Amino acid sequence: MTAALNNKNILLGVSGGIAAYKSAEIVRRLQDLGATVRVVMTDGACEFITPLTLQALSGYPVHRQLLDEQAEAGMGHIELARWADLLLIAPATADIIAELAQGSAANLLTAVALATPAQVAVAPAMNQQMWAHAASQANIAALTERGVAVLGPDQGLQACGDVGPGRLLAPERIAAACCQLFSRGALQGVRVVITAGPTREAIDPVRYISNHSSGKMGYALAAAAVEAGASVTLISGPVDLPTPARAQRVDVESALQMHRAALEHAADCELFIAAAAVADYRPANCAEQKIKKQGEQMALALVKNPDIVAAVTTAFPQLCAIGFAAETEQLEQYARGKLAAKGLTAIVANNVGRSDIGFNSDDNEVTVYTSERSLTFDKRGKGQLARDLIDHFAQLLAAR
Ligand code: PMT
Repeated sequence: MTAALNNKNILLGVSGGIAAYKSAEIVRRLQDLGATVRVVMTDGACEFITPLTLQALSGYPVHRQLLDEQAEAGMGHIELARWADLLLIAPATADIIAELAQGSAANLLTAVALATPAQVAVAPAMNQQMWAHAASQANIAALTERGVAVLGPDQGLQACGDVGPGRLLAPERIAAACCQLFSRGALQGVRVVITAGPTREAIDPVRYISNHSSGKMGYALAAAAVEAGASVTLISGPVDLPTPARAQRVDVESALQMHRAALEHAADCELFIAAAAVADYRPANCAEQKIKKQGEQMALALVKNPDIVAAVTTAFPQLCAIGFAAETEQLEQYARGKLAAKGLTAIVANNVGRSDIGFNSDDNEVTVYTSERSLTFDKRGKGQLARDLIDHFAQLLAAR
């Protein structure tokens, strides 16, 4: 990814929230990747970080006023709008997002956003309640509809003490997302269905059989596919993750529900990615009432679940189908067996016997097998891995 932003002009718009202090780091990360960065600040942003800091880091005067005689004689809003290859607004407060959604041109930043022919990206940062508010969500949906890229937000502990979605993405993740924006298009216009997370197979009203899948891998793939220009349907088992921006999420619980949803949505897709950890068996009967404790032992009769991805490849043999193989031993042998048995284009093998990768970890290390060859992706974060895998899947799709 070194110098992936060479020759790119990035106009960084900084709006007024506590995360504005991270804009200094964003300038640095973008420059590390070769970008030339100029900065526009709102009045609110100047309350949190001084223009001098961003001027010193970017090497250019910081732009602040819409009606500024000096600026208009040099680089006014139209020139700035034309200069930029990308307008990145980070952090983007709830207020600036609302102004952008309304098409307001009341300050320099919003005026540039209206005037620029370049891609616009926003990295939201706000209190989790403000992010969850229907008005913010409607504003984000309106921006997304117009092609604005939404980077994040991240979730976790917030400056106000709340916990939840609304944190500014880490500067290096914002920089990586900018690289993706310039290289996006690998799946432009492609319809992709992704299964993610575990399934839950009910034993009685209070108990179920499941597994350790967190959904991180499948959700990262969904975000990466959206970034690559795909229209994404994410069929998700029960997980605790925010829906990736611009993905359509279909929630399911059991393998039978996932089976139904997969067959319905795969009907009009070109790429199907089965990252879900589906229970192979379910209890033969789900007791209507909570099962009471009885003898020393108890036997649970199980019946086989349908193989979802195999059902999809049988029903729609024309589509490019990617499976995942979760193994604890003999990765290649078992993965290749599943590749053939399930009629897949490729299978991604990961070792779920290791605690540092696979289930519920932030990293993964995989080998992708097709009938002819294999390609290993060394250990990396699931976000980066997902982007690399999506590029690879796009090549497999194009080669069909
Ligand atoms: O969710 P994370 O915590 O991020 O973890 C990621 C992961 C380890 C779950 C993921 O990388 C992964 O390996 N997913 C596949 C898990 C799995 O069910 O593997 P499997 O080897 O049992 O199944 C092989 C393939 O068949 C998978 O694509 C699976 O989705 C599919 N399958 C399995 C059973 C079934 N009844 N129907 C299916 O479609």
